[in-house]
Formats: sequence, C-alpha cells, structure tokens
Amino acid sequence: MKLPNLQEAKIRNSREVQYIDAQIVRDLSLFKGKNYFIKTYGCQMNVHDTELIKNLVEGIGFTEVEKMEDADLVILNTCAIRENAHDKVFGFLGRCKHEKETRPDMIICVCGCMAQEPSVCEEILDRHKYIDIVFGTHNMHDLPNLLIDKIKKTTIEVPSIEGDVIEGLEYTRDSHISAWVNIMYGCDKFCTYCIVPYTRGKQRSRRSANILSEVEKLALEGYKEVTLLGQNVNAYGKDLQDELSFPELLSKVSDIGIPRIRFVTSHPWDFTDELIEVIATRENIMPYIHLPLQSGSSRILKLMGRRYTKEEYLTLFDKIKKNIPNVAITTDIIVGFPGETEEDFLDTLEVVRKCEYDNAFTFIFSPRVGTPAEKMKDDTPLSEKESRLARLNCLVNDYSLKANQKYLNEVVEVLVTGPSDKGENKVCGYTDTMKLVNVIAPKDTIGKITKVKITEAKSFSLNGEVVR
Ligand code: SAH
Ligand code: SF4
Ligand code: F3S
Repeated sequence: MKLPNLQEAKIRNSREVQYIDAQIVRDLSLFKGKNYFIKTYGCQMNVHDTELIKNLVEGIGFTEVEKMEDADLVILNTCAIRENAHDKVFGFLGRCKHEKETRPDMIICVCGCMAQEPSVCEEILDRHKYIDIVFGTHNMHDLPNLLIDKIKKTTIEVPSIEGDVIEGLEYTRDSHISAWVNIMYGCDKFCTYCIVPYTRGKQRSRRSANILSEVEKLALEGYKEVTLLGQNVNAYGKDLQDELSFPELLSKVSDIGIPRIRFVTSHPWDFTDELIEVIATRENIMPYIHLPLQSGSSRILKLMGRRYTKEEYLTLFDKIKKNIPNVAITTDIIVGFPGETEEDFLDTLEVVRKCEYDNAFTFIFSPRVGTPAEKMKDDTPLSEKESRLARLNCLVNDYSLKANQKYLNEVVEVLVTGPSDKGENKVCGYTDTMKLVNVIAPKDTIGKITKVKITEAKSFSLNGEVVR
C-alpha cells in the first residue's frame, strides 16, 4: 500500500459513490488476514453505530483485535457533545500517530459526530495528516468503498446533508442477550447548547414495519431485551405521514413478546398520557425512564430552548410516578449554562430534592461551535461552575444511595448479562428498573432472568445472591 498524499485528499459527494458488494471485496482478498481495532466514544447511538461498522469491516475480511498496536486498521468512532470528548480523541490519535511512524501502512480512520463538525475536518486536514479516512454519521454504510479508495488516496468524505434512512443494515452485535434497535436518526429540537442536530441531522424516523420486523428477528434469535434508540424516541413518527405514534409503536413492539423492552431518550415535551398508560399497562415494558431535566430554572430552560418550565416538568414527573408502579427515573443536568445565577442553580437543587432521582448524569456547560449558546454571554468563572457541580453531585449521590437502599432484602428479577468484574464467582445484570446488580451465581445464569435477593446497596450498584 502506498503512503497517502494529503494533496490528493478530496471531499466528495457520497451520492456519487456506488455501494460495493462485500462479496466482491472478499473475492479480491484486499483485506484478507488484516486486523482492525475500533474505539467508541459517546452515547448508545454511537455504540450501536459501532456494531454496524464492525459488520461492514468484518464483511470485507478484517478481524477485530483488542489493541490498537495489533491493528492494520484503527477506527475512532467519536463524540462531539462536550469539549473534553474532543480532547480525549486527539489524545488517543497522538498514540496512533506514534504507532504509524513505525508502521506506515496502518490505516487511521476517524468517524462519528466529531467528524461531522467542519472545524474538526479542517483541523485534521491542516494538522493531522496521518489520518487516512474521515467519514461522517450519514455515510457509515459506505466504509467499504472508502477503504478501497484509501489504497489510492486519502479520503475525507463527510456529507453535510443527511440522506434517506437506509434499511437492511446488518450489525455485529456485542451482546446476544440485549440488543439496540434504532427507531429514528437525528434530532429536530435544537436545544441551544446542543450539537447533536448538527452532527446527526434532522429527525428521520424509520418506518414501523421495518422496526417491527427487526424486533421480530431478534425475538427469534432469542434476545431477552431490546432497547429502542433515538435522541428523542417519544417524538417518533412526527416527521412521517401515516405512521404510528411512539406509544403505538411501543405497544406493537411489546406484542412481539420479548421479555424486556426499553427506550432512550425521552424528551419531557413529547411525553404524553398515552405513553404513560402504555408503559404502566404492559408488563414487558420496563418501569425505567430517563427524563432529562437540564435545569430546574424556568428562566434557564427558556434560554436552553427546552420547551417546558420547572412547574411543567414537575407535574409530568409526578404523573409518571403516580401512574407507573415502582418506576425509576434518571436525568441529565447541565450546570453553568451562560447566565446561570446562584438563584437559578438553587432552583435546580430544589427540583432534584423534589424528584429524588434514582441517578443523574451531571455536566458543566461546554460551549459547542455553531450552537446559539456558544455566543451567549457567560461570565460565571469556571471555579464557580465546578463548585456548583460538586454541590449538585453530593445531593444526587445521596438520592442514588437512598433509591438503592429501598431494594435491601427485596427479591428482584435480574437479567444476567455477563460475568462480573467484582469476583470470579459473580455475574452481573440489571433489574427491571435498570439497577446494576452484582450477584453471587453460577455462569449458567448468564442470559436468564433470575430471582435475586439484594444483600447490599451502594450508590451506583447493588449486591445480591440467587434465590433458590
Ligand atoms: N437527546 C438526549 C441526550 C443528548 S446528549 C436529550 O435530549 O436529553 C446527553 C446529555 O449531554 C444531554 O442531556 C445534556 O445534559 C448533555 N449535554 C449536551 N450538550 C451539552 C453541552 N454543550 N455542554 C454540557 N452538556 C451537554
Ligand atoms: Fe440535543 Fe436537545 Fe436534541 Fe437532546 S433534544 S439531542 S439535548 S437538541
Ligand atoms: Fe456524542 Fe453524537 Fe451521541 S455527539 S452523545 S455520539 S449523538
């Protein structure tokens, strides 16, 4: 293979590219005996995209390895949600560059949400010439073509306009127990701090018939759990005519009969009474909801473009708690949004006190290039933001522990997903409410829904033993 010459790098329109049949590539034996390493950053969406990428590269002859140093092809599937995600990726790329100095034939590939940012593409072209292939979130399925092209030249191919939803994709799934199923791509909400609508494009729902046949196939393959994925799952179908609503889709997925159905992420604005009813009345829809708050201050929520007030959020929260027995609710919260005062922050703490979340993911606001919030006046010092985050985390952790302690001495059903890293004699899995449990149990419980007595509750996990 020839070393790429950056002068030959070319930004093309993906629609010009013909899809190359994996069988033809295998017959050419271009990548026979070659290894690949993939590292994934970011949310479940990216984790699931990695399952697609694995299928594509394995389909043309590559075998997965666990160390970048053993790979002929290194793929970084990146996240752009906060600045530190960017720093982590370029940190790892530094190691790849070093490795490539001794093995110039190694192919380095950057994809995912960061690759979809024009500023990152420019940065790569200017300062990271050892990177061979860059592709975005809209043309992942084209990777085999890009790899073949790479033999001739460096390729940067990042379409800025999302294409149609592509059906018939195959995945190399990480688990044979629990599967992700995309029900939509992109997001139309444009919260003012968030880069996702730019990196993933506008909302595109899949047709329900395609989703249902994918879930039916997973049921036949013996999957015990399916998680429906989307940045805004409960806005499902709103971009299509003659399509089911999210509660209707959920009911039909539930009818297929897989024991555990989950979904992430729900937006409070699209959370209807009908949805609450479906979750409450269907046994195989798990009583667990991730309901991002972002801020407890109505003033900040307005600046964030979240479309609900503190009071509306609390009303919804109460309705969910009242109607869905034993429901667990988790959330996301941003501190230090531009202009957030101590008073605004106290509103956030008040909502956390009222909601007593099972868990909360907390972040310091990170300005993202091209979003409206990037340009908002922000005069709160970082030290103050860090102190707010620490105060928030203290409270959040108290409630996580309290929520977990309710499980002490209770018998719960755990879907055992694999061996535990807490000891040779242990396996781990999740309750219906998504609590991680480490269980003293034989390995043959893996893949089964097992009755477990909880013996210890910690802030972030539970310990238990199998009930005989
Ligand atoms: N679609 C989901 C999650 C999007 S990203 C939703 O609407 O809730 C996951 C979380 O990252 C967000 O909920 C938010 O809390 C956080 N986040 C997004 N952009 C951010 C930014 N610029 N700075 C800090 N946190 C951010
Ligand atoms: Fe981002 Fe808001 Fe869309 Fe979630 S709903 S992905 S926070 S723009
Ligand atoms: Fe990150 Fe993209 Fe997900 S920005 S959070 S990987 S949608």
